[in-house]
Amino acid sequence: MATEALEAIHEVARRHKMTYDEYRILKDWLISVGEDGEWPLFLDVWLEHVIEDINTSHRTGNKGTIEGPYYVPDAPEMGSHAKISMREDEKGESLRFQGQVRSTDGTPLGGAKVELWHADADGFYSQYAPGLPEWNLRGTFTADEEGRFQIDTLLPAPYQIPTDGACGKLIAAAGWHAWRPAHLHLKVGSQGHEQLTAQLYFPGDPHNEDDIASAVKPELVLDPKTVDGIDGKVVDYDFVLDPLS
Ligand SMILES: [Fe+2]
Repeated sequence: MATEALEAIHEVARRHKMTYDEYRILKDWLISVGEDGEWPLFLDVWLEHVIEDINTSHRTGNKGTIEGPYYVPDAPEMGSHAKISMREDEKGESLRFQGQVRSTDGTPLGGAKVELWHADADGFYSQYAPGLPEWNLRGTFTADEEGRFQIDTLLPAPYQIPTDGACGKLIAAAGWHAWRPAHLHLKVGSQGHEQLTAQLYFPGDPHNEDDIASAVKPELVLDPKTVDGIDGKVVDYDFVLDPLS
């Protein structure tokens, strides 16, 4: 695979008759990706979606998508019906996210782990942006005996991936934008089943069509509703996990 990857780069260099000036710019830029600590960002934004696609195409349960660079394992356990950790004055509209975890044969998966993490209203993730409480807008929820969960959180905001480092220079040079549509990140797991890594999106977000990370799929767009007596929006979404083969 390494030989083929290099040959693919050689082919592009030959096709575009890459000059020494361009080679030096490329070399400096590749070095700066490391110096800026942006290799995880670069790979998760521009390569992970293909790897995810290759490795989950056999599944008959729910579609997933990329994990991205902002996952932190072992977020605090919250129970099955709970509010995610947030600041007293956390900005954003309330969102109740609820559903059931099942196996592909319909069996409810009691005790399934639902890990949720998302950006705040300013587009920042705890543990990656300064000044946020350690586990802000992150939690592990354990489905009840019927596989059900109900999580009170807030509607996340769309955000731009960081543009002040090497990835931002690439975006500017290529004439792209840096936006990701608003999304919830999830990992859902249950014994004897493949873990599902997903992101869920919201209808009407202009960047659902041109996500910089190419991670949106139609099956992952939620349908939030307004329900009498409940503040903000409510959304139902079930997870169907594939048994391990
Ligand atoms: Fe994200």
